[in-house]
Amino acid sequence: MKYSFIILIISAVLLSSCSYDPNDPGRAYFPDMAYSVPYNAYTANPVFPNGRTMQTPVEGTVPREMIPYQYKKTYDDQLKAGLELVNPMKPTKKNLARGKAEFKIFCSDCHGLQGKGDGHLYTSKLFPAKPTDLTSAYIQDKPDGEIYHIITLGSLSGLMGAHGGQIKPADRWKIVTYIKNKF
Ligand code: HEC
Repeated sequence: MKYSFIILIISAVLLSSCSYDPNDPGRAYFPDMAYSVPYNAYTANPVFPNGRTMQTPVEGTVPREMIPYQYKKTYDDQLKAGLELVNPMKPTKKNLARGKAEFKIFCSDCHGLQGKGDGHLYTSKLFPAKPTDLTSAYIQDKPDGEIYHIITLGSLSGLMGAHGGQIKPADRWKIVTYIKNKF
């Protein structure tokens, strides 16, 4: 008798917390957690000490699956990259086709479709510096890693800009494979 009375009370309490309205979230015990304040990416933010919503990544960390480029833009490091980096892209039909397509997009405006250094940006005088002839022995004799290095960081003189930010590592290697096998 005593127990059934207790069970009755507990059931009454449990059932009273049920609601007929499926959209009713019920009582919020921590309203500040239930209703968080959203901030747009490029807005001021009172929560962070620097007052910005978007924070820079923590120093010394990298995004998942990203391998930071380990060489600097110096002649020594360019030679080192040539000795140490191995081109993983074999000259298969698929890799060459991709290398050609990427070369056309990112290089041919200056270096020309045939790589002779006669792209329209140069011939039209819009770009004043003569792009290197990629068919020359000077380039063809360079180790793949050096060309990869130049694409990634740009030329030492600074006349050709870095392309590491625009072209994925695999595609950079495919461009190198294309230059070495088709020019
Ligand atoms: C805006 C024009 C421009 C674009 C785009 C460009 N280059 Fe160049 N590139 C140059 C010029 C100019 C030089 C020669 C000047 C120098 O060596 O500093 C050069 C030099 C080079 C060299 C020789 C560097 C050296 O150390 O002698 C290589 C290799 C090269 N480019 C490859 C590429 C590849 C591959 C691409 C595409 C991913 C590319 N370039 C895109 C203008 C360009």
